[in-house]
Amino acid sequence: MKKILFAASEGVPFIKTGGLADVIGSLPKCIDKRYFDVRVVMPKYACMKQEMKDKMQYVTHFYMDFNYKSEYVGVMKAEVAGITFYFIDNEFYFNGGRPYSDDGLWEITKFAFFCKALLSILPTVDFRPDLIHCHDWQTGLVPVYLKERFQGGEFYRGIKTVMTIHNLKFQGKWDVKTVKHITGLPDYFFTPDKLECYKDANMLKGGLVYADAITTVSATYAEEIKTDFYGEGLNGLLCARSGSLRGIVNGIDYDEYNPETDRFLPYQYNAINFRKEKIKNKRALQKELGLEEDDRKFMIGVVSRLTDQKGFDLVAYMMDELCRDAIQLVVLGTGEEQYENMFRHYDWKYAGKVSANIYYSEEMSHKIYAGCDAFLMPSLFEPCGLSQLIALHYGTVPIVRETGGLRDTVEPYNEYESTGTGFSFSNYNAHEMLSTIRYAERIYYDKRREWNKIIDRAMAKDFSWHVSAEKYQEMYDWLIG
Ligand code: ADP
Ligand code: GLC
Repeated sequence: MKKILFAASEGVPFIKTGGLADVIGSLPKCIDKRYFDVRVVMPKYACMKQEMKDKMQYVTHFYMDFNYKSEYVGVMKAEVAGITFYFIDNEFYFNGGRPYSDDGLWEITKFAFFCKALLSILPTVDFRPDLIHCHDWQTGLVPVYLKERFQGGEFYRGIKTVMTIHNLKFQGKWDVKTVKHITGLPDYFFTPDKLECYKDANMLKGGLVYADAITTVSATYAEEIKTDFYGEGLNGLLCARSGSLRGIVNGIDYDEYNPETDRFLPYQYNAINFRKEKIKNKRALQKELGLEEDDRKFMIGVVSRLTDQKGFDLVAYMMDELCRDAIQLVVLGTGEEQYENMFRHYDWKYAGKVSANIYYSEEMSHKIYAGCDAFLMPSLFEPCGLSQLIALHYGTVPIVRETGGLRDTVEPYNEYESTGTGFSFSNYNAHEMLSTIRYAERIYYDKRREWNKIIDRAMAKDFSWHVSAEKYQEMYDWLIG
């Protein structure tokens, strides 16, 4: 039995801010239990729901040297759907109302602590992983610490590491002197071939240098990040390591996202009866959100973090023009103030037509995935994207920009060949986006049978973890031997 430990900063059902949590909550369940024992370690945040904390059991605690102090490291444990989760408990580091703060130095300190602590707990929990699968910059120091200070002991020797990039934009950077002080790592590590990157220390870079293999969450993004435009300054390193870098597309959890069993939906439906049943969810949503109650209106949904990454400057630029069309727009999201306010403004200006819901809600997200006709995701970059996969499964036709995972998972509609599962445009250009939305509108209004066939094809696609989980298994086998 090969032992794999997932290390991550968030995971469903304990804590979620974005797609990373979905992946951490769903991929381990789909790895073949006959050959692999996959467990997960993450911080125990004060902001986790009480009902989640109630599932955890105390395992042990000890003190660890960190940042010139002796710090408490508590270990908690919980089992969900057959997967064991470990939690690192320290109320000083993992306090606050959200898992992440805007204070960069604090984030570096907190996750450096997490990396060192998660390696330190292993001898106490009776689980020696053959491989630690690290996710995003928050876990970047795991391969680094493992190479250095934990190599002395027999216990750690030979543990392999994988670094998965879910988002290259976030790297955990701060000045070398401070990071050296916090991490306790010697000078040796702070050179341009290791943690140093344009004069700063970079936690993700450390992970990318020292991991035995690197993956990212779609084949296209794996190529894109080797270029200047998408490489976020690390394209040189990623080119150099391209032999160890591959893209494995994400899946979604079909137990969680299934229109046929979805407990959040007023009306459940499937690939056979959607023509009659899906519309009932649209009516319910229009009513709930105070939109004009009209079956025929082309309803576009957005469920997203409201950040630059997601292409909302294109949307902002085109809002007035878009709202002249016979459409409705439903937005659910939180993030940068400029986008929150932009959507609030248009909600006021086009009352009954635009609905801005600036909050986080699992339930509302499901209602939007089910109730809308189309789902808009004009991202500037998108490592994978799960929202479009969910939309496809709910028969809500994605309108996306052809980048990263969006390009790999949404097949553009071709009216001559009657193929495709969505609509897409290639350049990051507001007019291209608008004309693509309008093309979708035309098909919806004028060729409804064609539109429904797009839905047929979308709902028939399989984006479960099945195929991708096998690719991870092959990689684990290859690395562990
Ligand atoms: P990212 O990880 O970049 O945010 P993904 O498309 O991979 O993008 O995943 C986003 C996940 O977060 C999806 O499951 C989406 O439904 C969810 N989500 C985003 N914003 C909200 C929100 N305001 N309320 C509920 N769920 C949200
Ligand atoms: C990141 C990316 C998103 C991806 C998710 C899960 O948050 O922005 O594209 O789907 O991670 O891998």
